[in-house]
Amino acid sequence: MQELVIHGGRALRGTITASGSKNAALPIMAASILVKGTTILRRVPRLTDVETMIAILRALGMEARWVGQDSLMLRSRGADITVAPREWVRSMRASICVLGPLVVSRGAATLPLPGGCVIGERPIDLHLKGLRTLGAEIYQDTHQIYARASALKGGRVKLGGPRGSTCLGTANIMAAATLAQGETVIEFAAKEPEIQDVARYLVACGAQIHGIGSSTLRIRGTDRLEGCEYSLIPDRIEVGTYLAAAAATGGDVCVEECRPDHMAATIEAIERMGVQIDVGRNTLRARRAGDLRAIQFSTAPYPGLPTDMQPQLSALLCLARGAGAVRESVYPERFTHVRGLQRMGARITRRGHLAVVQGVRKMEGTRVGATDLRAGAALVVAALAAQGRTVISKVAQIDRGYQHIEKRLGKLGARIRRREARWAGSRRSA
Ligand code: EPU
Repeated sequence: MQELVIHGGRALRGTITASGSKNAALPIMAASILVKGTTILRRVPRLTDVETMIAILRALGMEARWVGQDSLMLRSRGADITVAPREWVRSMRASICVLGPLVVSRGAATLPLPGGCVIGERPIDLHLKGLRTLGAEIYQDTHQIYARASALKGGRVKLGGPRGSTCLGTANIMAAATLAQGETVIEFAAKEPEIQDVARYLVACGAQIHGIGSSTLRIRGTDRLEGCEYSLIPDRIEVGTYLAAAAATGGDVCVEECRPDHMAATIEAIERMGVQIDVGRNTLRARRAGDLRAIQFSTAPYPGLPTDMQPQLSALLCLARGAGAVRESVYPERFTHVRGLQRMGARITRRGHLAVVQGVRKMEGTRVGATDLRAGAALVVAALAAQGRTVISKVAQIDRGYQHIEKRLGKLGARIRRREARWAGSRRSA
């Protein structure tokens, strides 16, 4: 087990380049199962979640390998394996995205239920409902999902749930529909940029998808998808996290090769906190001279404020002047970062899906644990601004979504290093 050691209090300064999007990469890699030729994916982030998806695809008989620093070659070798490997699938929710592609292209799929999740309940009912509407027979027991279909047929699928649409559910059903017979209409489709990216990849392979970026997608099934070369969009959550870190430390950071048009809600929230954001064509620069101001914000599906930025923005709020409030509308339980922030001196009161944050002048470094990916990112943001030394255990959680985090923050002037955890078994972690 590794941990990060951060000596806080240094303003971050400098320029970094955005990585490709994790949440576009994972469903696109799964969708490559549908393709007859070779997919070359560009700008793929070197993350453990991406390595997990590579392992799943290989176990399903695909060829998957890195070609160069950030390009992935994915090729279906005519394999007919339909049973997904338990150890990998259980470790990552995004593995559900192989279900639709396997059923439509190989006629069956057996998938262990993706594992539990600390950010709260993450049901898959909409994925299963969508595939059943297209004609798949699906049976589920306590451990596995079994699906089969001799041929999928287009239909009208509604993917709206109690908290909005489903991102990966939209990717899953859309991918399956590209090879189904006839037309599929997806209503209440997710509009997130990552899901638009999945659609654009499929179109580049020859799929017919209309309405990309809207809540109604029309997909006309084809017989065959061909390989293509495709470059992923930048990771708006990674970019937002670095902007939050710049703001927390009173620094001046420019992120290059990003898509500001994907980030309007995040930019607006950080600006309301008193941070100056300069928006270029594909650059964002965050700088803060004065105090941070407390605000109220609420997460929502795109184009609203992403739930994946809530923990990092909550960390920022801890350091603002006055009282702020957070409403988590997508995952009401996504507050595992609160305990670590409290240990660092934050004053946060949680009631259900709401958190009230009373700003403090300073936070103090201590020992905390990354309970999940974005909670870990929030602790990094807080630690960079805190007085003294913070040790963040369970870095593996952070490595799922941020490549080379200590190198990139180090380049911006942070005092941060990674080390093997000492006394990992005996020490208490938060
Ligand atoms: N939902 C249902 N039924 C379903 C599926 C989802 O009710 O069948 C509900 C969920 O419980 C939640 C809401 O719908 O309340 C939205 O969940 P969604 O399905 O959109 O989440 P996801 O597609 O499984 C992706 C990202 C998450 C991100 C969410 C929301 C990937 C790999 N994951 O998950 O990213 O939080 O969309 O934007 O793309 C992260 O990167 O840290 C992360 C958790």
